[in-house]
Amino acid sequence: MAVVGPKGGVGKTTISANLAISISRLGKKVVVVDLDLGASNLNSYLGIRNSKYTLDDFILNKVNSLQDIVLETGFENMGFICGGNIPGIANLHYSKKMKLIRNLSLLECDYVLLDLGAGASFNVVDFAIIAKESLLVTTPEVPSIINTYVFLKTLVFRRLEFAFKQFKNQQLLDLLAQAKDIEKNPHLKKMENIIKAVELIDGKASELILKLLARLKPALVLNRIRSDRDLKSGTAIQNLTKEYIGIECSKVLSVQEDASVGYAMARMKPAMLENPGSIFAKDITKIAKFLIQQQVYF
Ligand SMILES: Nc1ncnc2c1ncn2[C@@H]1O[C@H](COP(=O)(O)OP(=O)(O)OP(=O)(O)O)[C@@H](O)[C@H]1O
Ligand SMILES: [Mg+2]
Repeated sequence: MAVVGPKGGVGKTTISANLAISISRLGKKVVVVDLDLGASNLNSYLGIRNSKYTLDDFILNKVNSLQDIVLETGFENMGFICGGNIPGIANLHYSKKMKLIRNLSLLECDYVLLDLGAGASFNVVDFAIIAKESLLVTTPEVPSIINTYVFLKTLVFRRLEFAFKQFKNQQLLDLLAQAKDIEKNPHLKKMENIIKAVELIDGKASELILKLLARLKPALVLNRIRSDRDLKSGTAIQNLTKEYIGIECSKVLSVQEDASVGYAMARMKPAMLENPGSIFAKDITKIAKFLIQQQVYF
């Protein structure tokens, strides 16, 4: 499962850390991985000060497999892979990235939770695409909503580009390039029009797009909710993504603003455990139960 979302401290790492704890407490084996390459900080959210191994050891081939660098967290059923900080880690070579992706799928657990960096860089998008499920974290403010939409659009276009390259049809790739420039090509603003244009070029390719889009169904997590009105942002995102990029964010989950999260962070303790009875802990548990009921496995 990938935890993704826009920049601006919307709560991706807070949710990754606490959700992992919650899933493990519900009896599932989970490994949470800090993949915010070059800006890792998940360890502090888990209250872990010294990490014997980090992702650097894997990137520099000091260990054979990713499993070798899974750290104990002190929580039953839960392992942690600490982020790396070697210079250049944010620009992982393609073959290294593929090796990392292969190793992620081999980790011995029920769930792998990836805390990804902010925004829609190639790294983030590539890791988000391999995940079976994405949790799209955002706050209800307008800039976050716009960034969330842009993130999803980038993800979808990169996925389509990858698929079209396999068709080896330059016309399809040109069409995609045109669709990226909607100022010049306003007729390609909506996904349904892109699909119609693809169909005219290659009927099989348009079928493939529909299948790919149907598979990308991120669950939306609205974080730092203060009132019921804030929940309307979820509907705004759902409408935008459906109309313009053909993606259904069918499930909207929410986590309320809770001062205890900041207090726990200041003490370098996981919020879930510092205040197990808090609104935040309850909301996170609800999300963990939803994911387990969905039987989403990596
Ligand atoms: N539900 C919440 N209630 C109160 N504070 C919260 C909540 N969720 C997150 N925060 C606070 O928001 C801040 C940013 O959270 P976090 O670091 O998880 O964001 P992020 O999306 O991972 O940021 P980045 O893009 O920098 O990785 C933290 O100080 C955290 O304590
Ligand atoms: Mg973060």
